[in-house]
Amino acid sequence: MNDLPEHVARNRAVWDRWAPEFEPRGRIAWASAEPRWGIWHVAETELHLLPDDLAGKAVIELGCGTGYVSAWLARRGARPVGIDNSPKQLESARAFQKEFGVEFPLLLGNAERVPYPDASFDLAISEYGACLWADPFAWVPEAARLLRPGGQLIFLTNHSVFMLTVGYGEAPAADRLLRPFFHDRRYTWEDDDSVEFHLQHGEWIRLLRANAFGIERLVEIQAPETPQTGGGGALPGEEIPFGMATREWARQWPTEEAWIARKRA
Ligand SMILES: C[S@@+](CC[C@H](N)C(=O)[O-])C[C@H]1O[C@@H](n2cnc3c(N)ncnc32)[C@H](O)[C@@H]1O
Repeated sequence: MNDLPEHVARNRAVWDRWAPEFEPRGRIAWASAEPRWGIWHVAETELHLLPDDLAGKAVIELGCGTGYVSAWLARRGARPVGIDNSPKQLESARAFQKEFGVEFPLLLGNAERVPYPDASFDLAISEYGACLWADPFAWVPEAARLLRPGGQLIFLTNHSVFMLTVGYGEAPAADRLLRPFFHDRRYTWEDDDSVEFHLQHGEWIRLLRANAFGIERLVEIQAPETPQTGGGGALPGEEIPFGMATREWARQWPTEEAWIARKRA
């Protein structure tokens, strides 16, 4: 623990505390045959984030949490490995593996330094995982190292518009700018000790390109008109998922974005 970077140690303590709250969300997502993404549970059939053919693909999930994304990929024939920084989240993931009968390796560790050799994977994926809780200037180069030439990187995180309009306390996203566009990319909150990292689009493009990624798509996600379920997001009846934004807000502006990039051959 002592040799972890400060933000990783802080996020480990926070995620160990939050794990029980994510267990029921994890169970819903593990039970779902179809992938559904983000806090609004948007169907994979609408967003098409995943490659059509996952059979035999070696996948690393960076910040796997309760492990449902890896479970979805394993059911489609992939060979996932999940790494997560929180022992408690991994306890939930292990329990779900037994409950749902889908097994894959789970590692406790920091996605900024993954104990696998270079070019071990065909796909690196992160849904609200290390892609926002780890330092992008550490995890993106690490993802590039882990991928084979031609390998894909897929990550889903908060949209920059959302990050500019969400305040420092518990209030959901507003209809005006509450945070500066130019700052050190670290986001902290008044009510907890967690540390997040969010880049603006130009910074993501520069960072991905500097690490030998070509960018294939940026998907800006709109909340569906009516409540959905089947992913790790809002619980049934939870109108403002995680206190982040109302549906009315997220119909007008994006709360989330997904990047799809490919390591140059
Ligand atoms: C919202 S969960 C996302 C995972 C998954 N989609 C889910 O909802 O269960 C965020 C996860 O990122 C993990 N995480 C945070 N920082 C990390 C890091 N540096 N390396 C690996 N995992 C990290 C946390 O422990 C947590 O389990």
